[in-house]
Amino acid sequence: MREIPVTLLLLCFSFSPYCQGNTTPNSIEGAKLYHQYCMSCHQADGGGVPQMTPPLVSTNYVTGDKKRLITILLNGLNEPIVINDEVYYNPMASFGYLTDRQIAAVLTYIRKSFGNQSTSVSTQEVSKIRKQLANKN
Ligand code: HEC
Repeated sequence: MREIPVTLLLLCFSFSPYCQGNTTPNSIEGAKLYHQYCMSCHQADGGGVPQMTPPLVSTNYVTGDKKRLITILLNGLNEPIVINDEVYYNPMASFGYLTDRQIAAVLTYIRKSFGNQSTSVSTQEVSKIRKQLANKN
């Protein structure tokens, strides 16, 4: 019975695009979270859906300023944004119910997947920004 999880993990690495990339335990957690919470809208390859959901590939929102990125997850986003000359109007709900660790894992995952090559996001960075946002209210 103990082999089953290992086999599943190996299968996952062999076949699924969202399991490839870097392979620290944290990134496996990030891939799972992406699958569970983000993929339905942003798609397995991070390509989004034209006129519905913006892509996570090569966008400055994903690879740029961490504070802005963390704030998008904690607060959600509800403003028209332009990515690659395409305007997106649909709002995205907050993921503030995820733990700081989960947010760090999923953001690290998207910053290092789909061809993105950016730096990691730590649990501490998410905690700090969550506190800053709470103090504003
Ligand atoms: C219900 C569909 C939906 C889900 C689920 C969803 N998003 Fe979004 N996301 C959107 C939409 C729509 C926007 C654009 C919001 C706007 O323009 O105000 C967006 C915008 C973004 C942006 C900024 C724009 C960009 O494309 O770079 C990031 C980053 C992002 N989402 C990450 C995530 C992550 C990470 C998850 C999972 C934890 C997630 N989203 C889950 C629909 C979704």
